[in-house]
Amino acid sequence: MKKIFRELYRLIIPFWVRRRIRGIVIAPSFYKRMIDECEEVYYARYSAERAGKTWWPEAEARKAAHILDKGLQRDDVSPGHGAQIASSLERNIKLIGGEDKKKTTVVWSSEILEDYNQLQIGQLAQPRGASFVNPEVDYELLFRLQETRRSIRSFKKGALSRESIEKVLDASLHAPHSCNRQAIASFVSMEENMVKKCLGLNNGATGISGQPQAFISFCSDLRCYDLPKEQSLPTLDTALGVQNSVLAAHSLSLGLTLLNWSHATPAQERNLRDLLKIPPYYKIIINAALGLPRKGAPVPVKKTEERFWVEG
Ligand SMILES: Cc1cc2nc3c(=O)[nH]c(=O)nc-3n(C[C@H](O)[C@H](O)[C@H](O)COP(=O)(O)O)c2cc1C
Repeated sequence: MKKIFRELYRLIIPFWVRRRIRGIVIAPSFYKRMIDECEEVYYARYSAERAGKTWWPEAEARKAAHILDKGLQRDDVSPGHGAQIASSLERNIKLIGGEDKKKTTVVWSSEILEDYNQLQIGQLAQPRGASFVNPEVDYELLFRLQETRRSIRSFKKGALSRESIEKVLDASLHAPHSCNRQAIASFVSMEENMVKKCLGLNNGATGISGQPQAFISFCSDLRCYDLPKEQSLPTLDTALGVQNSVLAAHSLSLGLTLLNWSHATPAQERNLRDLLKIPPYYKIIINAALGLPRKGAPVPVKKTEERFWVEG
């Protein structure tokens, strides 16, 4: 009986009304943008799920494959676990159609599904693994890269190859990423006028002299996340990738200077999206100016160490 009433309630009262009945929150207007962003993705996800569609097959496949992969790596791996995840992976792989079938996600996740299925029939000889790779980069060298990197605010004219920019962006993909969703995406322009216009929309670019050769907007594909529960993850995931790019740029003697986007007005947000053709489901996390440094920058003060060793 209770179930029938619940279904009737669901059918009669639209979802957006039900959500409001469940919990009205009166919040100051500066929360509006944050709430709107979550609601937009939440409703889209909810409607897709109600229509029996899988939300975002590629990211869902990467996430499911990642969960199975972790299990398959366990030293004590044994059959009989993760059946639900395996069927979600299978379903999502099937949903990826056409040319997308050749994508690395499909190849990788199919391999994992195959190993999982082999395990269930006792055919997987040993846990998934690989030998530990010695990076052959010693601590001193890496620390020197980290320590000498600066936010460059003076750029000189000159040619910057697309290949170098690709290298900087490739580095962003090699950072840890929650559930291996790889939701980071970058929108790039090397066109002089466009770079100028994009920089003009960033309040934090006022300290920049000369013109950097490229403008990058680092974004996160919100479709990959369960919002609002995972609200902190798009920023966290993107930031880890961006830091890789910042260091990669420095290793190439380039400056990649971050430009805060959290102060952007709605008009600035709209204009930047128009210029770089950024679809609404990509959240702009941070922007950056990339170019040839004319000069370095003095080392800003580092705070007195705050480190708490807890013993006992
Ligand atoms: C999230 C974030 C936002 C930033 N926004 C700006 C900005 O808008 N403009 C700018 O000139 N620098 C910006 N920076 C660079 C910081 O000012 C800089 O990293 C900091 O002062 C330390 O200096 P360093 O990068 O040379 O070590 C930003 C850095 C971060 C991490």
